[in-house]
Amino acid sequence: MQNKTLWWRDGVIYQIYPRSFADSNGDGIGDLPGITAKLEYLADLGIDAIWLSPINPSPDVDFGYDVSDYKAIDPKYGTMADFDDLVKKAHQHNIHVILDLVLNHTSDQHPWFIQSRSSRDNPYRDWYLWRENPKGKHLPPNNWQSIFGGKGWEYDEKTEQWYFHMFYKQQPDLNWRNPAVRAEMMSIFRFWADRGVDGFRLDVFNEYYKDAEFRDNPPKWGIRPFDQQKHMHDTDQPEMMGIVEEIRKILDGYPERYAVGETFMSGADKAAAYCGPGKLHATFNFSFMHNFWNPAGFLKSVLDWEALLTEDSWPNYVMNNHDNPRSATRYRAPENDERLKVAAGMLLTLRGTPFLYSGEEIGMRDISVSRSEIQDPLGLHYWPFNKGRDGCRSPMQWSTARYAGFTNGKPWLKAHPNFIKRNVELQKADPKSLLNFYCALLRVRRANPALQQGMFVPLTYNPQQILGYLRQTADQTVLVALNFGKRKVKLALGPRLNDANWELLLSNKRETTPKVERGWLQLMGDEVCILLQK
Ligand code: NOJ
Repeated sequence: MQNKTLWWRDGVIYQIYPRSFADSNGDGIGDLPGITAKLEYLADLGIDAIWLSPINPSPDVDFGYDVSDYKAIDPKYGTMADFDDLVKKAHQHNIHVILDLVLNHTSDQHPWFIQSRSSRDNPYRDWYLWRENPKGKHLPPNNWQSIFGGKGWEYDEKTEQWYFHMFYKQQPDLNWRNPAVRAEMMSIFRFWADRGVDGFRLDVFNEYYKDAEFRDNPPKWGIRPFDQQKHMHDTDQPEMMGIVEEIRKILDGYPERYAVGETFMSGADKAAAYCGPGKLHATFNFSFMHNFWNPAGFLKSVLDWEALLTEDSWPNYVMNNHDNPRSATRYRAPENDERLKVAAGMLLTLRGTPFLYSGEEIGMRDISVSRSEIQDPLGLHYWPFNKGRDGCRSPMQWSTARYAGFTNGKPWLKAHPNFIKRNVELQKADPKSLLNFYCALLRVRRANPALQQGMFVPLTYNPQQILGYLRQTADQTVLVALNFGKRKVKLALGPRLNDANWELLLSNKRETTPKVERGWLQLMGDEVCILLQK
């Protein structure tokens, strides 16, 4: 890896779910001026970029992931002037801005789809996937399913054909094989890059293409109908590679633009194949969200990912996002937050771009929603087996003020009742808080090139309790030791490091450099210890 600084490689990206971050006008929904007002907070935290979940106009069936105009701002979030102001001020704080592009499908309220469904010979008909089954009009064209439940095909009485939707029926999939669609999609990248946007997160990009012959997916064992088939013909079609290359060419026409793709349903091997020189800068690695609180599992995820990426690719790690239960909830983190400090210590010191999700830095927990409170249609459909994704989307907890200081009105989704004790204001004032630990970690990361660009060298470890590794550049060696358990434990540094001298960069359990005796470093329970070799 070269030494030139690259914001998206060396920095930390912070995801904002705009509905839930900060509401400036009291309508109960977060907005762009709300985000702008919090830039100071984000700059103090020490992140390098914000990724905004979709802010385009949307009927909100899937809260922004159903877009009805790709080149505008949803009025509930503000105006284009508010957006330009946010980008300008973010840049003044050295914070880059990443937008979420949802290009696999539109809303059924998008003018293109309204036209498309109006008649079979409408010029927009072929912008979506319309089919019929020659065996009878009440049979769907093939066996493809929707991940959100039920058939992937919806019958349209008026024009007597079916259209395909991988997600809700209000999210019809676009026909990327139509050159006009492809050209329009590419123009969206230019539109926002021209406005100063630094990067894009591509929603389920490996779904863009479907099999040209619409063949049935072959069966496999699974519980839900969606899982009872191999997604061979509705995912990861070979044509996708050309698109990835085209996107990269567009972005390379601007200075330091970035694209991270969300692969849907594919394993890490497929995800890795889409990134590297001439392709996407990154594709998400979600494996951490499926790990238990066990160092062996995390190390395996890291080594698997490192082995899959080519030399020029760059890893990334995600503990939280808007689709999954929060890590504090998943790991049943004790209220003292020491376990969450260990999680942060790992996420922010591995080789790769860390993604944070707002609220992670104060240890927010999922809210539990009753049937009548559910907002996410996924929860409405699968209740009570799957309660949907509202849990991790509750309002950001800013203060002890009413509704956690998120809004002066009534929030669209309730705040977690623990906001009284767990919020930014209180944690800022407490030097031992999780928030201040994140700030300190981010400072240490920024100040030490080995933590940004260095090689990852795992040390021998006790796989049930401890994870230790070095991050190394030609000039610097940093040791990271993480104790996942409550008991004291020793980490063996190995013969090469027996005589090394260390300086403490950061620990949640001590103020001074620990003694390393004959190559053994003793860690306290739940300790993160980061040492610089002298
Ligand atoms: C993935 C997004 O993360 C999720 O929130 C959304 O529902 C689907 N894509 C559909 O756009």
